[in-house]
Amino acid sequence: MIRSVVRGFGAALPKRVMTNKEMEAKVDTSDEWIVQRTGIRQRYIAGEGETTASLGEAAARAALRRADLTADDLDLIIVATSTPDNTFPATAVNIQNRLGMRHGAAFDMQAVCSGFVYAVATADAYIRGGLARRALVIGAETFSRILDWSDRTTCVLFGDGAGAIILEAQQGEGTNADRGVLTAQLRSDGIHGDKLYVDGGPSTTGTVGHLRMEGREVFKHAVGMITDVIEAAFEATGTTADDVDWLVPHQANRRIIDGSARKLGIPLEKVVVTVDLHGNTSAASIPLALDTAASDGRIKKGDLVMLEAMGGGFTWGSVLVRW
Ligand code: ACO
Repeated sequence: MIRSVVRGFGAALPKRVMTNKEMEAKVDTSDEWIVQRTGIRQRYIAGEGETTASLGEAAARAALRRADLTADDLDLIIVATSTPDNTFPATAVNIQNRLGMRHGAAFDMQAVCSGFVYAVATADAYIRGGLARRALVIGAETFSRILDWSDRTTCVLFGDGAGAIILEAQQGEGTNADRGVLTAQLRSDGIHGDKLYVDGGPSTTGTVGHLRMEGREVFKHAVGMITDVIEAAFEATGTTADDVDWLVPHQANRRIIDGSARKLGIPLEKVVVTVDLHGNTSAASIPLALDTAASDGRIKKGDLVMLEAMGGGFTWGSVLVRW
């Protein structure tokens, strides 16, 4: 059985760090409020010349270096983003060009904060279906560019950054002992479209628009949706919370992360948390967290890693992968 095995990983952050203290100068907020409600202490904000494509390119180059590969060795690039450099061409094609890759295929995937989980699931389906052998999967965002910087209920929550993994076709036995993606569970329900959205777009206003969120409404649904897809992953593979070495959640809010882990019976020592450092970087948050925990030696080859996300749409999903 063909499995999509993680061959490399990388990440990139903008140069500029913005602390909660600096946020106090912009809107009526406080470090204490932000830390208590979200766990966020700082975020990175893209500066001049830094874009979703440039951050994605840097993350991709780091992943290629770690995998000891070049762009010539890839045949697919998927970029999960809601903040593309341009409406078109796709940011994935932009990055393909920046990497000097003149073959294969590249496209963007838009599922907001669940984008990386959707992109990994898609790359896995391409690899298992024989359509690709090596896929570069990137989550890259510059949410700072679509924030309403006068709205304290949203602007304190988000940050910019990018992360990437390289998935490679390898032969497995078809058991849970195989390395690679073991299952992916994806969901969406557009009835929640008005709870987290951008109030503009090419076909409506002809503008980019700004992020709008009913935070309390999102919060209400988050833990239930997250536990639903994680339990579905357990059921699909016959695994349990005890088998999981690391939970790598989408980093939106510390309270949501802790609440989900508690409900699933996953001890907090097994949960990778980076929301304090990065804020909510939407589709980039999971690959940034993976890069952090795999670089510092927490996530090791053979570990069972559960990825999960929930975001605008709503969309939500999980991926269970043996590292
Ligand atoms: N600083 C100070 N006070 C604030 C701020 C701020 N930055 N923002 C809001 N407040 C005030 C509100 O005005 C409100 O005041 P009031 O009681 O006088 O009306 C009070 O704080 C409480 O507001 P709530 O919205 O009830 O605060 P809550 O505890 O729900 O926390 C938060 C808000 C952090 C946004 C939370 O609801 C949340 O995390 N929601 C989920 C967000 C999320 O997970 N998104 C994930 C998907 S993101 C994506 O897909 C792009």
